[in-house]
Amino acid sequence: MKWYAVPDLNPSAEPFIKKVKVGGKNICIVNYEGKLYAVGATCPHAGAELSGGWCKEGKIICPFHRYSYDLKTGKGSPGQNDFIDSYPIELRDGEIFVGIESFWDKVFGQ
Ligand code: FES
Repeated sequence: MKWYAVPDLNPSAEPFIKKVKVGGKNICIVNYEGKLYAVGATCPHAGAELSGGWCKEGKIICPFHRYSYDLKTGKGSPGQNDFIDSYPIELRDGEIFVGIESFWDKVFGQ
């Protein structure tokens, strides 16, 4: 797994959902109830930008048809049968880093 610094995004006390591009992927960085999360930026239902949504009860809610996804696991709510990617996220010296597995990491379990 490779860790990527997220440019120009300062962790703050205020909640936010921001779309960024790191490691060639579009990712939503979410600051929700004092914790950071990194999830895929596109809703698998019909392609809406999840950065236009909001968070509730540990989930990110899509602004289009209100499908919801667990911020930790990316799992869709019951009945949706879908998911979004979720990524490990860390704060290092005030800078946000996201961990992304390459295809080969997945194949060889590194
Ligand atoms: S596009 Fe996200 S719920 Fe339909």
